[in-house]
Amino acid sequence: MSPTSSQSKPSRPSKRAAFDAETADGPERKLYGRRRSHKLRSGRAELMRERLRGLAVLPEGGGSPDLAALFGDRTEYWLEIGFGGGEHLARQAGNNPDVGVIGCEHYIDGVAKLLSAIDSEALENVRVHPHDARDVMDALPDGCLSRVFLLYPDPWPKTRHHKRRFMCADNLNALARLMRPGAELRVASDIPDYIRHSLQYALSHPAFYWTAARSADWLEPWADWPGTRYEAKALSEGRRPAYLTFQRRA
Ligand SMILES: C[S@@+](CC[C@H](N)C(=O)[O-])C[C@H]1O[C@@H](n2cnc3c(N)ncnc32)[C@H](O)[C@@H]1O
Repeated sequence: MSPTSSQSKPSRPSKRAAFDAETADGPERKLYGRRRSHKLRSGRAELMRERLRGLAVLPEGGGSPDLAALFGDRTEYWLEIGFGGGEHLARQAGNNPDVGVIGCEHYIDGVAKLLSAIDSEALENVRVHPHDARDVMDALPDGCLSRVFLLYPDPWPKTRHHKRRFMCADNLNALARLMRPGAELRVASDIPDYIRHSLQYALSHPAFYWTAARSADWLEPWADWPGTRYEAKALSEGRRPAYLTFQRRA
């Protein structure tokens, strides 16, 4: 399939349903990958119930999030898609208290870990969508994001599963709408085929260009990079990651 062609979409709900913070269930749209590995420990389940509603990104009745209401005086917003256990997100939020950071993760155990970090590190600039990042991407206003992280996305190595990869024409179109001119899309992966796939899709999208001028620009991590859990696993297993930065054209 050509990178610029629209991929066949899973069926979407006609109207976006409200997210249920009690069960962490969201509107139905096909999302592959595991949702939970085991029942949450009772302390974590309680934390989920208490905290998720207050940290919600999407308004209960639907519509676009009011970012000023969510983040107060902050005027810069970042989005992390698939934050895993939230280690990178928590560190970035802690190091950048003037930025409002929106995290989306479909794996509930990972969401619970981030909630613990938000509490233990007293992070006030994080909001969490415990489900499909595409729900948030549909709802956010145009040009609101200045940075987006897609770190070690699920590689879906089988050819017949490539259409599940997050880097695809539809998601790049959505990000092109959301990212302000000059905004940065950071993509890290340790899977050579996913790195090629990301370059293929982003480079053929008219709204993005790859900022790398020399090999160190993509072989070395970003200066403010705290690492991620998946990266640690990749490095320990001898895989070399790539760190791709794409910029939103003006
Ligand atoms: C391979 S893990 C990487 C996690 C983390 N970024 C890291 O580097 O440690 C990919 C994560 O993306 C999440 N994910 C995949 N598609 C998603 C989507 N559409 N919305 C939210 N999370 C998603 C998965 O649940 C999984 O936890």
